[in-house]
Amino acid sequence: MAKYELPINSRMLKSDFVFGVATSSYQIEGGAEEGGRTPSIWDTFCAVPGKVDNGDNGAVACDHYHLWKQDVAMIAELGVDAYRLSIAWSRIVPRDGEVNPEGLKFYENIIDECHALGMKVYVTLYHWDLPQYLEEKGGWLNRETAYKFAQYADIVSQHFGDKIDVYSTLNEPAVSAFLGYRFGIHAPGIKGNKEGFLASHHTMLAHGLAMPILRKNAPNSMHGLVVNAWPAYAESEKDQFAVELSEAESYHWFVDPVLKGEYPAIVKERYPYDMPMILEGDMAIISAPIDYLGVNYYSRNVVRLNEHNVVEKVVLEDVEKTHIGWEVYPQGLTDLLVAMKQRYDNLPPIYITENGAAGDDSVTDGEVNDTQRVNYFQTHLKATHDAIEAGVQIDGYFAWSLMDNFEWAFGYEQRFGIVHVDYTTQTRTLKQSAKAYQAMLVERAAGNK
Ligand code: FCB
Repeated sequence: MAKYELPINSRMLKSDFVFGVATSSYQIEGGAEEGGRTPSIWDTFCAVPGKVDNGDNGAVACDHYHLWKQDVAMIAELGVDAYRLSIAWSRIVPRDGEVNPEGLKFYENIIDECHALGMKVYVTLYHWDLPQYLEEKGGWLNRETAYKFAQYADIVSQHFGDKIDVYSTLNEPAVSAFLGYRFGIHAPGIKGNKEGFLASHHTMLAHGLAMPILRKNAPNSMHGLVVNAWPAYAESEKDQFAVELSEAESYHWFVDPVLKGEYPAIVKERYPYDMPMILEGDMAIISAPIDYLGVNYYSRNVVRLNEHNVVEKVVLEDVEKTHIGWEVYPQGLTDLLVAMKQRYDNLPPIYITENGAAGDDSVTDGEVNDTQRVNYFQTHLKATHDAIEAGVQIDGYFAWSLMDNFEWAFGYEQRFGIVHVDYTTQTRTLKQSAKAYQAMLVERAAGNK
């Protein structure tokens, strides 16, 4: 049976290195109209023909809203130290100014169950499911949304306090702001550079406004945010500028304001007419110290500058790719983490909050032989180890995802789970990748006794 090997002498063998699995609310919960939840921008977006593959939506998803107890038991059985989940904003604040106790209770049950089974909980407050009633007032284009987020963060953290072990304000603001408000391929489907940059500034402001509130209400928890990064590589030597621009737009734009208190100059120079309105004091709010940075890594970009002076992604032919078409490139994870350490003197400890591979998996005789995913995790665990050896402080690693789920604009066609979900019967089946994770964790626990 498959089992991941952890390199010896690694920080990863110590019992305080956190191994976990991750999910998000809209991708797994379903129960869209239950428990007092109101629609989010994703319910609305999914209803627009052509926006999501196969016309899929998250109305039922993995039915985790009803199956949460058995799902948490399954997570515990994997032997992980922690579960990373997100809270659906519109379950907690279904209408402006209204708090829904049933929503709070739903998450409280999950959190208590995780703790009872010996696991920590990492909670993301915003994993892209903005309440629709806020979108109707402009969503992230409206500065007011940042203040609404701070209120929501206050409600959650007042209720849970230190019971949530690790809070994260945002998941991948680059995706929610740019895919949602700049390129129009995620909810709410808005297109425009100006809109994208404005949404991004308000999203970052939301993060900054929430930080002191979280610290006050949960002084013993850790607080930070989660970003995604696809490191860029030049197609040829002349493409260095393309590399810089690509990384600046896709992740420095979101990490620099937090860790350096400024937006990267190269982006400001490139889009002088599209820059957001930044009020005095905004950058100080956004750059409040964080306890950790969550990094999501899947793949890299190879880039070049085309004849119109625009950055283009190069499609590589002869490389290994996953079902979703993303190149398998573990070295990128090491390079990314080492580069982050070089770029930010004050880089806090890192959690790899997501890493994983999409497959087209099916169950045969009760087994799912997801060999590619097993190799993917093995090589990326090694890449994490290499970054640690190179001096980066990494305190944990979360597999994306616990189970197959609603993969946004790709619908259910892309399966990222280490557990297979049969959407007709809601049967869960551990894939080889889950069994290998389990076996590795059993071995690590034995070694740490
Ligand atoms: C990340 C998201 C996560 C999932 C994975 C595949 O960008 O945070 O929800 O969609 O990609």
